[in-house]
Amino acid sequence: MSIHSSLGPVAFSTPAAAPLHRPRRLRRTPQLRRLTAETQVNANNLIQPLFLRDGIDEPREITSMPGVYQHTRDSLRKAAAEAVTAGVGGIMLFGIPREADKDERGTGATDPEGILQTALRDVVAEVGDATVVIGDINLDEYTTHGHTGVLGADGDVDNDESVKLYARAAVVQADAGAHIVAPSGMMDGQVSHIRAALDEAGHHNVAILGYSAKYASHFYGPFRDAVESSLQGNRRTYQQYPGNIRESLREVELDLAEGADMVMVKPALAYLDIVRLIADRVDVPVSAYQVSGEYSMIEAAAAKGWLDRDGTVLESLTAIHRAGASQIITYWATEFAPRLGK
Ligand code: PBG
Repeated sequence: MSIHSSLGPVAFSTPAAAPLHRPRRLRRTPQLRRLTAETQVNANNLIQPLFLRDGIDEPREITSMPGVYQHTRDSLRKAAAEAVTAGVGGIMLFGIPREADKDERGTGATDPEGILQTALRDVVAEVGDATVVIGDINLDEYTTHGHTGVLGADGDVDNDESVKLYARAAVVQADAGAHIVAPSGMMDGQVSHIRAALDEAGHHNVAILGYSAKYASHFYGPFRDAVESSLQGNRRTYQQYPGNIRESLREVELDLAEGADMVMVKPALAYLDIVRLIADRVDVPVSAYQVSGEYSMIEAAAAKGWLDRDGTVLESLTAIHRAGASQIITYWATEFAPRLGK
């Protein structure tokens, strides 16, 4: 007896006899499961985000992200060294200025002595070329209103003024030693402005990781605590509507045309269809950002005893990798890297 499934003819033995096909045969032992594993996330694929906070004497744990810290310069260097020892593939840095140093134009982002540039110099001095050091380009940590650009007369973010500031931020980050810069502002033309400015400053070898498909997501909630940003309004005029697919393809195509070396989908777990779609279409590395809310959800449920923490974390990383992400930005990178392959 046989039927046709979408995979072709499937033979059945008679109901009383033992089944001919037993998929469980290959799941029987850890060795068989290991041998037949189709995808496996590696330590080298992970990127650890780290935060440097200006003006604090002790590291501060972020309330909504237990286990994640706003670092002092000392503790940041230690965290970077630990990440390298653990075998992570990269470190992504964020700077948090003092409240008094924020202004309407986010000047701290373009100041060569700004907090993120200090973080980049310190981390590069500490770990040198042992890992890849990435700077996030945006203005939201540095503006009083919390938007990622300068506001125009109509109260909306002024695209073309903001990209000029991103270009300057990219150059000061590259001067400070960033190997990759990652514009996260979702302004039109940001990649081409940054590429031109980097090239003009002689930074031809500094790569651009575009936050290409970045959704206006509630999963960023705890990150706002992490960087002490009190956003006025929302980001829906520049980040994408969660129900859209084609818009992501267009954003990725534009970023590649403008010179992006790598592209990113963000958040990760709720957008794995987008990761897969883009991974199938483009020939550059596709990264995914497992964002703050994804971290906090698992940590909170695990703290209540409702989820097995380590198993759930590993499953989430595996799923993001399986969907096609070649790099995963995750707050668990340093902790989980030693348990993964290289
Ligand atoms: C922009 C930026 C954000 C995140 C990374 N870069 C916040 C935002 O766009 O609102 C979020 C990361 C996370 O939630 O972990 N500065």
